Amino acid sequence: MPGEPIETRIVPVDPGAPDAEHIAQAAAVIRGGGLVAFPTETVYGLGANALDETAVRRIFEAKGRDENDPLIVHIGAPEDLENVVAHVPATARWLARVAWPGPLTMVLPRNHAVPGVVSAGRETVAVRMPSHPVALGLIRAARVPIAAPSANRFMRTSATDAAHVYEDLGGRIEMILDGGPAYAGIESTVVAFEGDHVSVLRPGAVSREWLEGALDREVEVRDRATAGPAMSPGTQERHYAPRAKLLYLPGETVQTVVDRARAERRNGGLVGVVLADEDAPGLEDEAGFAVARLGRGDQLDAVGRRLFAALRELDRAGVRVIIARGFPREGTGLAIDDRLRRASTPKTGH
Ligand code: TXA
Ligand code: MG
Repeated sequence: MPGEPIETRIVPVDPGAPDAEHIAQAAAVIRGGGLVAFPTETVYGLGANALDETAVRRIFEAKGRDENDPLIVHIGAPEDLENVVAHVPATARWLARVAWPGPLTMVLPRNHAVPGVVSAGRETVAVRMPSHPVALGLIRAARVPIAAPSANRFMRTSATDAAHVYEDLGGRIEMILDGGPAYAGIESTVVAFEGDHVSVLRPGAVSREWLEGALDREVEVRDRATAGPAMSPGTQERHYAPRAKLLYLPGETVQTVVDRARAERRNGGLVGVVLADEDAPGLEDEAGFAVARLGRGDQLDAVGRRLFAALRELDRAGVRVIIARGFPREGTGLAIDDRLRRASTPKTGH
């Protein structure tokens, strides 16, 4: 159980060229067993020294996260992979060369220098080398690998800026490095290896198409049926959820989405609607709707960048229910669909 609230220091940093003194202060917190939230090129992470079991346990406590859900270990250089994993298959070595630093997480055999709590007792560990200058600077200054899940309370949407982190974790962590909005807005892609075979356990900021190009081979995307909770426990059905009930309507026309929103409106309360910029305007001018437009429907990277922030904005507006349209399941669209599906209530999503 979390104890007394602690003071959370918010330290503004230049995302492109963070001040060395501020990074050193954050690194000292990490080395002292404390928790620091920091921006990455995907979402904000909640970091602790990955080699310090007590510090890692504090992450689970602060998030209210189930200890069965393993964390990602962030490293500052590709060579550091050898310190956290027991064996690097050739395919993983190649992906580290072409995708790092960047939003690709690889699940590999765990080196026992990494305490079991990081991986929820698994014999594997998930590792990535981020590209964000603040994340890299922090890991290098701390001179230890940093275990970091997304910096949100358990089951909520990932934090894509420092205000989201504070909203969820203020009073529970020592420091937030505020480097402005995270870049992609969608978490890293998690992959696993079986011999030469690569499968995606969680779609993310690196697309399946990109991976297939890099590997010159087909890549399988696992879903609940083929992966199961044991393989990627954090991919459980309800996750990344706003407070309001979310009805996700992939494959429906915009007209159907709008009709559904109007029907919900008749039940009272404020109705949130997630649309693309080009979708028929109008709802904005009617009472009872809060509309979030995520960008052009064919610009999926931009849609991904806005998605979690938009869900939080709708929550803040006090909506009772959110109706969301679908986007093409290609490129970043696969991850967008995955997150909306998991954020939606069991009634519609499966
Ligand atoms: O972009 C990201 O990945 C962000 C930033 C902070 O790096 N981190 C993040 O962490 O999204 P988290 O804890 O929210 O999600 C980690 C995902 C979960 O789906 C978890 O199940 C999976 O990685 N994972 C971690 N370790 C694993 C392991 N040993 N085997 C299988 N899946 C693992
Ligand atoms: Mg998360």
